[in-house]
Formats: sequence, structure tokens, C-alpha cells
Amino acid sequence: MRLGTLELGTPVYLAPMAGVTNEAFRRLCREQGADVVMSEMVSARALVMGNERTRAMLGVAEDEHPVAIQLFGSEPDVVAEAAVRAEAAGADIVDLNLGCPVDKIVRGGSGAALLRDPERAAAVVERAARAVRVPFTVKMRAGWDSVTAPDIARRLADAGARAIAVHCRTREQQYRGRADWTILERVRAAVPNSVYVIGNGDIASAEDALEVVRRHGADGVMVGRGALGNPWVFADIAAALRGREGKRRTAGWGERLDTLRRHMQLLVDLKGEALAVVEIRRHAAHYVRDMPGAAQARVRLQRAPTAEAFFAEVERYREELSSLGEAPAADGTATAAGG
Ligand SMILES: Cc1cc2nc3c(=O)[nH]c(=O)nc-3n(C[C@H](O)[C@H](O)[C@H](O)COP(=O)(O)O)c2cc1C
Repeated sequence: MRLGTLELGTPVYLAPMAGVTNEAFRRLCREQGADVVMSEMVSARALVMGNERTRAMLGVAEDEHPVAIQLFGSEPDVVAEAAVRAEAAGADIVDLNLGCPVDKIVRGGSGAALLRDPERAAAVVERAARAVRVPFTVKMRAGWDSVTAPDIARRLADAGARAIAVHCRTREQQYRGRADWTILERVRAAVPNSVYVIGNGDIASAEDALEVVRRHGADGVMVGRGALGNPWVFADIAAALRGREGKRRTAGWGERLDTLRRHMQLLVDLKGEALAVVEIRRHAAHYVRDMPGAAQARVRLQRAPTAEAFFAEVERYREELSSLGEAPAADGTATAAGG
């Protein structure tokens, strides 16, 4: 299958996550083999109104293509204009959000609210898909309070959506319960074969990805929370999907700390030190998860007031780990015992 000029095979996507999937994190995931990385959701309206902070969210690094920029909005002309700007900024794919359950977004008629107004959703897709040369895609939930995704997906495919990612929970479920991957079978059956159906929700390992593709018929998978502090999940999933068992991948403690350092440095370069110090806190907790002494190390990392102090805490933790008899290397080499 092809998505525009992109030859994607069975793609593994990094899911869009507000506050997370900026250029820094996307680059780390891309490096580990994510086939497509997606931006945080960007307000189409704010973009078209010329909001400077919103425009900055369109930044794309040279080494992260193919990258999708995700928009949220509900006015066809506004989303179309925003899509043109996203394309001009370097997006290889422009995506529309039909899944965000947050009240503020839904009240404005965007995100998951579009699931209750399929007519409008189709009008937005039709107008925006025609405005850009790159593929226009959508990411939706299973429905608002019942499963309506197959029907809506068909309408959006008819309107020009080239790929449809489905988070297999309804809006009402928010993040509760397990994602129901069987919904993907119904969506797959509802849309033309030329349209990618991408499975999303609770896919956090190669085994999950294999199940979603082989058993439930998805053309690709999208991983969100499972990638937090764990960009290697993409290498592992890609290896499993492509039958390269010898390339399966986990990271040792040393490599995890090295990547945490790099993530911090990329954030400092992208946003400046003051914002980076705050933003790295949530990531730090994920990178050190399950490592010995992680609870204390996490608190120290999260309290570091400067980048220098943060890096010093990383090194202090590295030394503590090596005194336990594990010797994490600082050069990115995985240690035998770690991970
Ligand atoms: C912190 C966070 C931010 C998110 N932001 C977005 C977003 O901007 N756009 C979107 O379509 N979905 C967003 N999502 C939903 C994810 O893309 C994904 O659909 C959901 O987390 C389920 O997949 P997972 O189990 O792999 O995490 C977000 C999820 C999280 C946890």
C-alpha cells in the first residue's frame, strides 16, 4: 500500500500526544524506527489567526520525515487553510483529530465532537484533503458513546481521508477499560482497500502489534503511551512485524540514561532551558521506571532546577546503579544486566 508518495508497508506510527510529541521526542522515536511520527494536535484556528506559539508547533526537523502534523478544528475553510500551512512547513501528511475527549476541545465542536456530526466531519475532510497535495488522514475514536467508527470511517474515506487511525475506545470511555481491537475488523471491512486502517489503543509491545495486524486486520499500528520513556518499542515492533526476530530490542539501564540525557538536550535546544527543565519531569519518570532506586532518583531528577543539575543527577544515578554491580555505559551501549 502507498500513502501518497510514501511507501509504508505495515507502518508503525508514533501517536500524537499533546505536551509530548514535539520535535525532540519525535526524533528519538524516528531514530528507533517509527515509520511515521505525529505532532501534538495543533489548533487550526489559532494557526490561521497567526498565533506565534501555535505556528512554532509546526517546526519539523530534517531527520524526522515522514512526519504528520495533526490539526484540530471543525470549520472546513479554516482547517483547509491550516492544512496548507502545515504542508508548507514540511508535513508529509496532514491529520485531523476526531478523538480528543477533553471538554474544552469538544465544546468548540472539535476533536471527538465531530463523531456526533459526521456530516460536518466529512465536509472538513473533503475541503482540507483537496487543499493539499500530501495525504490527508484522520485519527478517530471508536465513537462517542457507542461504536460508530465503521460508518463514520466509510464516510471520511469517501470524503478523501487516505488513512484512518482508530483509538479503539469511545469518547465516553475516555481511557478506561481495554481498547477493543475487534472494532478494527469492522472498520477494515467498511473502507476501500486503498485506505490504511491503523490500530491504536493499548499497543505497547511487539506481541500487541502482531495481534492487531494479524488477528484484527489492521494495516499498521500506532503507539502512544507505550513509547513514553521507551522509544525502543518502535525498533522492537518493527523487527517483529517484519519477521526479524534477531533484531528484537530492549534497552539496558545505561542506554536508557543516555537517551534521557539526549531527550533533555533536545528539549533545551528546542524550547530553552526553563521550559525543558519542567517538561523533562514527566519523561524522566518513564525512563527510569522499574530500575533499582527509581523512586528516589525520579524525585531528584524532577527537582533539578537547571539543565546542568539535571545532567549531574543523571550521572549520580548512573554511579549508584554501577555500585550495584551493574555498569551502565555512557556511550549508549546496552549493558548485559540492564533492561
Ligand atoms: C498525554 C496524551 C496526549 C494526547 N494528545 C493527543 C493529541 O494531541 N491528539 C490525538 O489525536 N490524540 C492524543 N492522545 C491520544 C493518543 O494519541 C492515543 O490515541 C491514546 O493514548 C491511546 O493510545 P495508547 O494506548 O497507545 O496510548 C493523547 C494521549 C495522551 C496520553
